[in-house]
Amino acid sequence: MVSADNKHLAREKSPRFTYPAQPSSVMDFSESEITKKIKSGDLKIAIYGLGHVGSPMASVWLRAGAHVIGVDKSSSVLERANKGESHVPEPGVNDAFASGLATKRFQIYDDLEKASHDSYFKMICVPVLFSHNNSSPDFTAVKEVSLAIGKGLKKGDVVALNPSVPPGTTEDLVLPILEKESGLEVENDFYMIYNPERIYEGRAIQDIEERYPAVISGAGSKSLEIGKIIYSLIFKKGVLSVSNIKTAETEKLLEGVYRDVNIALANELAKFCEKIGVNFWESRDAANSQPFCHLHSPGVGVGGACIPVYPQFIIYTAEEVKVNCDITKLGRAVNDAMPAYCVREAIKLLDGKKKMEDKSLDRIRVTLLGLAFRGGVSDTRLSPTYEVLKEFQKMGVKEIRVHDPLVKNDPLLPKHQNVILSSDLTSALDGTDLVMIVADHAEYRALTPDRIGGAPVYDGRGILDRTIFNHHSLASIGIGSGKN
Ligand SMILES: NC(=O)c1ccc[n+]([C@@H]2O[C@H](COP(=O)([O-])OP(=O)(O)OC[C@H]3O[C@@H](n4cnc5c(N)ncnc54)[C@H](O)[C@@H]3O)[C@@H](O)[C@H]2O)c1
Repeated sequence: MVSADNKHLAREKSPRFTYPAQPSSVMDFSESEITKKIKSGDLKIAIYGLGHVGSPMASVWLRAGAHVIGVDKSSSVLERANKGESHVPEPGVNDAFASGLATKRFQIYDDLEKASHDSYFKMICVPVLFSHNNSSPDFTAVKEVSLAIGKGLKKGDVVALNPSVPPGTTEDLVLPILEKESGLEVENDFYMIYNPERIYEGRAIQDIEERYPAVISGAGSKSLEIGKIIYSLIFKKGVLSVSNIKTAETEKLLEGVYRDVNIALANELAKFCEKIGVNFWESRDAANSQPFCHLHSPGVGVGGACIPVYPQFIIYTAEEVKVNCDITKLGRAVNDAMPAYCVREAIKLLDGKKKMEDKSLDRIRVTLLGLAFRGGVSDTRLSPTYEVLKEFQKMGVKEIRVHDPLVKNDPLLPKHQNVILSSDLTSALDGTDLVMIVADHAEYRALTPDRIGGAPVYDGRGILDRTIFNHHSLASIGIGSGKN
């Protein structure tokens, strides 16, 4: 059962917790006492993992006046945090880190256990990855952090798990570690919350502070109540509490699968429209004017650390409990096939070009626009550009330039293989034989045939103004080449 709550309701309840007699100052407090203690630094908040989620989360707590311990195992992340900087280019994060350091409310730790010992509320913001080799989730980081937190856990402490996880992870993996390592019992001695992080990269702080309610769940009623109080301090949209942890864990996966499958449907229908000579985009806009239709956008592929991963957690869990999740699987397969499809479509553009007649694919130069997994961000995790690149190489293309306005270097791009990353659009386009738009960075929307230098273009995001291009040298996803 899902019940909506807001800050007002949480404040009205103002629960007072009386824990078993303990010689600790955090055993007995009301909402206003928790607020005061968090702001005074008596109750510190430890954020484990200062990445795309942990950095904005630490920033939001700092902006709310809290004392924050930032914990990470990466020395470069820690070094930058110590200088008041983050490697995550989220608006507001550097300012929050710098002012937190200046006011001595931000401490950086590499000692995971000490951070647990020194803090009251611990937020686990390290990822659960998915290992394609083993077809299973990789819990290494969450286990490591849980072990350390368990060792430093004190009576009255609160722990929150934040990454998206296969249902059951909090209660079957994290809680047993915490209880074993600490010798404490959840609900009687400490409190456990699961709160899936819901942010859109590039506006994470705003999302947490203003846009979304926090979805929270607790290991029991006390955990849930204390969670409502804590999260109401930073989420202006309040708290949406769900009746148990597994429901909250599943909620986040449902969001991701809905988007992945919706994109797969858009991809399938876009290809269908190409074949029957219909402009998918125009048709989709008209369809979406009906209030029950929310077709997403087709594209070269689905990347990022979230949307391609969450369906895998559902598929993995479904196999364990022997349930078919065929649509979820099919959505993944459709989306994973998009880079190869788009490369084939792009190469068709070369067939009609006279100047290509004397050039085989191993002698052409291809320019890929966008290495980030989508426009407006520098995050390259699971970007479809890597797959596009491999597909072109499989076809025999030897020289590939990759442009991205926000990604300045990338260790994952193949070295020594004539693959050059550049953030200079002019040089990336200079003398190219074929251009493919892979990520929808804003500046690509304004590209003109002149700027591109006459090379054919495959618009894998449907963002170019087709009216200014020669229809033989432009193909767009959902439209194909031609006059549509
Ligand atoms: N990125 C997003 O936009 C987003 C949105 C919503 C939810 N999430 C979820 O949040 C989780 C975290 O994602 P992220 O994007 O912040 O990851 P990230 O890779 O950007 O950051 C993870 C951080 O944790 C640190 N870390 C890794 N293992 C550690 C360990 N054992 N001990 C201490 N520190 C460790 C890393 O050094 C890194 O700084 C993901 O599982 C994802 O499901 C991400």
